[in-house]
Amino acid sequence: MQVAVKRDKPELVAADVLAVFLHQEKSLTSKSAVAQLDARLEGRIRDYLESGDFSGALNSTALVRTGGKIQAPRVLLVGLGKPAAFTIDVLRQASATAATAARRLGVSSVAFLPPAGDVEPVEVGQALTESALLGLYTLKKYKTAAENDDKDNLRELYILASGNAQRALEQGVKRGQILAEAVNMARDLSNSPGNEVNPTYLAKQAQEIAAKTALRCHVLDADGMREHGMGCLLGVAQGSDQPPAFIILEHAPKGSKEPPIVLVGKGLTFDSGGISIKPAANMEDMKMDMSGGATVLGTMQALAQLGYPRRVVGLVPSSENLPNGSAVKPGDILRAMSGKTVEVINTDAEGRLILADALAYAVQEFKPACIVDLATLTGAVVVALGSHATGMMGTDKAMMDRLRAAGDYSAERVWELPLFDEYSKQIKSDFADIKNVSSGREAGSIIGGAFLKEFVGDTPWVHLDIAGTAWTRENRPYIPKGATGVGIRLLVKALEDMVQDTAKPAAKAAKPKTAAKAKAKATAKAS
Ligand code: BES
Ligand code: MN
Ligand code: ZN
Repeated sequence: MQVAVKRDKPELVAADVLAVFLHQEKSLTSKSAVAQLDARLEGRIRDYLESGDFSGALNSTALVRTGGKIQAPRVLLVGLGKPAAFTIDVLRQASATAATAARRLGVSSVAFLPPAGDVEPVEVGQALTESALLGLYTLKKYKTAAENDDKDNLRELYILASGNAQRALEQGVKRGQILAEAVNMARDLSNSPGNEVNPTYLAKQAQEIAAKTALRCHVLDADGMREHGMGCLLGVAQGSDQPPAFIILEHAPKGSKEPPIVLVGKGLTFDSGGISIKPAANMEDMKMDMSGGATVLGTMQALAQLGYPRRVVGLVPSSENLPNGSAVKPGDILRAMSGKTVEVINTDAEGRLILADALAYAVQEFKPACIVDLATLTGAVVVALGSHATGMMGTDKAMMDRLRAAGDYSAERVWELPLFDEYSKQIKSDFADIKNVSSGREAGSIIGGAFLKEFVGDTPWVHLDIAGTAWTRENRPYIPKGATGVGIRLLVKALEDMVQDTAKPAAKAAKPKTAAKAKAKATAKAS
């Protein structure tokens, strides 16, 4: 899909569909670009509004034939909802609604007339591009041509620029393309079946990402894991015929010598539960248990392509969890890379085991400034938060505040759960240092967090339990059902904010913010 910024006047743009975005208001704002367009259309848009045929409710649409009065044969009206409720995410949703509506029409090109407002053009360009590409996502690879009902001819998206916004819009478009490509790659990995996406496949994917960016990639095989003493990761992997992989991706921009931020993602390519086997119902969904790992790969790719100025390392411990004759058994004791011994009570609590070695590796090899891990760790977080918030726990308040703000901005929201010391007592083992589950079912997600905390020492650390947010059963405007790719837009925003904040005093002195810009910031924050 091509995305380009065009300086054409709306009435002159040669596109199959011209999409215009309208608030839920009775009339058109006079002098607005849409009002000017409507004058050429002899009031056709106004008719729709006044008749109530188009309400302007968020994500509502109506198609207007233009009868040769402008270049485009159709105008698509797209609702933005009430002006007071406008946020950057409203724009994202409406953009995806417009793009998917255009696809349904079977046309090949669509032009967007961006709505007027306080949001900076870079953000507008990014939001429109990112969410259009995210909304159009499909995975056709596993259907034969005959089964693909192909009305999908959409090849070109134009974003119309007015005034001097072109450069900034183009920057935003580029950013939107990078983010959407990373998220859609992660979705592909999570949606693809376990018989294709196994640890070796994930490692190959990481190497391909490194080959096309400036990232460095290194993969430890089982021997490498043994050398590092990764007994927990090896313990999980021993029940499966597929070899495990430990993926290390490094983004090291020139001159960056500081301790890195380390991102860790659970790369469990199929979770049957192992000997503590799961019930059959919905077990097929457990192909997505590598979503945290996919998010780390996608985030690393995006950071490299965006030219992120700081050092970042991505780690993905990857394995299957299957119950063959050599599988780890309840009661078995494993030794983690940190030296701690772990009694495996339930082989289905495998995510924390493979992450334990990755966290210990991060601490020992990189002495990181901060670690953020992402994992589809517990069913309990789905019970607690459903699919609209990621569970967050950790030891670094500043980083958690940052992630919360980035979550609100990106609409990949996070919600904190406590990690009081008392919870850690519940994983003391009678036979080993700790056990991988507590005795009851209480506080399941927190127990998972408390387990991971045993392996980070005093490194500032945040754990994101994405079990509820990595997958959706319903279509959303820019998230088709299935894998969501959650966490990439969140992490990139949080990491970029970190750089912004440290650069702030100098930037402020050099270039004072205009009132309009400050207001746009506030709007963005409010979302
Ligand atoms: N991968 C699962 C968690 C999960 C559940 C992910 C639902 C996505 C959707 C994890 O490995 C698991 O099985 N956790 C157990 C832990 C329990 C044994 C303490 C769970 O949540 O039941
Ligand atoms: Mn499990
Ligand atoms: Zn799992």
